[in-house]
Amino acid sequence: MDISSSKETNLLTVEHLTIGVRKDKKEILLVEDFSMTIEKGQVVGMAGESGCGKSMVCKAILGILPPGVEIFSGNIYFEGKEIKTKKDFKNIRGKFINMIFQEPVSALHPLKKVGHQIGEGLKLHSKLNGKEIKEKVIDTMISVGINDPEKRYNQYPHQLSGGLCQRVVIAMAIINEPKLIIADEPTTALDVTVQSRIINLLKSLNKNNGTSIIFVSHDLAVLSQIAERINIMYCGEVVEENLSKNIFSKPKHPYTADLLNSIPEIGKEYLKPIRGSVPVPEEYPALCKYADRCDEKFCLCDELKPEFLEVEDGKVRCLKYK
Ligand SMILES: Nc1ncnc2c1ncn2[C@@H]1O[C@H](COP(=O)(O)OP(=O)(O)O)[C@@H](O)[C@H]1O
Ligand SMILES: [Mg+2]
Repeated sequence: MDISSSKETNLLTVEHLTIGVRKDKKEILLVEDFSMTIEKGQVVGMAGESGCGKSMVCKAILGILPPGVEIFSGNIYFEGKEIKTKKDFKNIRGKFINMIFQEPVSALHPLKKVGHQIGEGLKLHSKLNGKEIKEKVIDTMISVGINDPEKRYNQYPHQLSGGLCQRVVIAMAIINEPKLIIADEPTTALDVTVQSRIINLLKSLNKNNGTSIIFVSHDLAVLSQIAERINIMYCGEVVEENLSKNIFSKPKHPYTADLLNSIPEIGKEYLKPIRGSVPVPEEYPALCKYADRCDEKFCLCDELKPEFLEVEDGKVRCLKYK
């Protein structure tokens, strides 16, 4: 697929994004040459072990990278227009793109009533008056499944359970009807039953409102329930991108296969954890980043850097396919 040709019609296009930090005059890359497209109404997943750069990509798209972390190269386009300056990001964030963070509790202000927090985005980005805002807040609370919204409206975060707090965070993220929601591990801190309710909620948002979603999770089982396409990230690179169903039925990259073998599943006799661990960015290997942990490593892996090759319906970064 030629990304540049569809830039005008895609909701979001990320091209060759490289993110890093400077340390002792050296550039350390946290994300390397990351590209992705999101069409209107599409749900795209991002998976990979902790530390592989998923959150950095999300934060770069919103223009909220931590201090010291910068975009070295690459471009981000929203509805065909490049977002580049602080002002561009500010115009889009909270209005057209919203984020749901992993920790619901830290995303909420402890001393503000939840109803007010949910309405804050509307106050900033719409011309509604106080009464209209409250009505819309109540409606949104109902739509995310918060029972007794009038009572909850006046409560503080500490009076709500973790699951309810995450619903409040989701209400905050959807009240402006953004075109894109970036959900970065939105269910990781929740128990399994709450998890599936939140996923169903995001699914219905996608179906009923056509909201596009980037759904990030280190858990492929969770992604299988919601994402149409999945990016598998390892050491700051996408190592495989394909339709969800292909990722699960015929994974191409050894890392994808290993990730699948390491997730619990009913009926699975034993889990095979991936040996070793994700290196720190200073020690990312120069050639294939997964070679050290890969059971399918062969002679070429010590000689060539794998390119991101086109395969059936997607792409893979592995020398096996060269
Ligand atoms: N503020 C920071 N400065 C430098 N490196 C960071 C900072 N925050 C995170 N990192 C590093 O960036 C890499 C990617 O992190 P992150 O995007 O949070 O991974 P993920 O979301 O996939 O778990 C990790 O190696 C992490 O240690
Ligand atoms: Mg993260």
